[in-house]
Amino acid sequence: MNYHVMTLFPQMILDGLNTSIIGRAIENRLISLEAIDIRDYSTNKHKKVDDYPYGGGAGMVMQAEPVYRSYQSIVKKLGKKPRVVFLTPQGQVFNQAIAKKLSKEEDLVFLCGHYEGIDERVLEEMVTDEISIGDYVLTGGELPAMVMIDTIARLVPGVLNNDVSAEIESFHNHLLEYPQYSRPIEWMGKKVPEVLMSGHHANVDQWRHEQSLIRTAKRRPDLLEKASLTKQDIEFLNS
Ligand code: ADE
Repeated sequence: MNYHVMTLFPQMILDGLNTSIIGRAIENRLISLEAIDIRDYSTNKHKKVDDYPYGGGAGMVMQAEPVYRSYQSIVKKLGKKPRVVFLTPQGQVFNQAIAKKLSKEEDLVFLCGHYEGIDERVLEEMVTDEISIGDYVLTGGELPAMVMIDTIARLVPGVLNNDVSAEIESFHNHLLEYPQYSRPIEWMGKKVPEVLMSGHHANVDQWRHEQSLIRTAKRRPDLLEKASLTKQDIEFLNS
């Protein structure tokens, strides 16, 4: 799984993803991360990559040519046209299902915009997916690209220590995760639920599943509609 991030701020991407689980996955060559500096592909002697918008208005627009030239360098290297994700608040809202689908791709290109946007013509030419990470506006696409890479990369086999944890966590079957506890048994007068220390795995699983149902019903009832619930689940929620 190779991530190629087209950006005006390559260091932000490299620094941001070089730690913890993703950093280790890069080190272990389970994934690779490359930041392509769009400025390197400017044809302007001052390395300029933006200009005023036609029709007027505030801010600057990233020009088509440097963006396209950096894209072409990736296509040339890969020998094929990869999937290109453009980060924009106008895109489809990112979720775990999209992450799962994208985690199957061998190569993914992320295009990060800045200023007031990117010349529409180059977007038409190269972008395959437009994704938003939520209904709010950031100053650029770098943080959204990092959010997406973190989410997708942890689904790549071997990136997490235990592959099961990606399966049972929040949003698996559209349910939120159950609460977790570690030592000590009592903290600030609060005790760890008895069942978790029983050593009875079936009871632990049952309790956790019920906690997931309770949490989802309370915090994100909208998700419950998408979950496939058994007859027992429905009875439990109605009890
Ligand atoms: N760029 C600016 N805001 C964004 C958002 N919410 N999602 C993706 N890209 C963005």
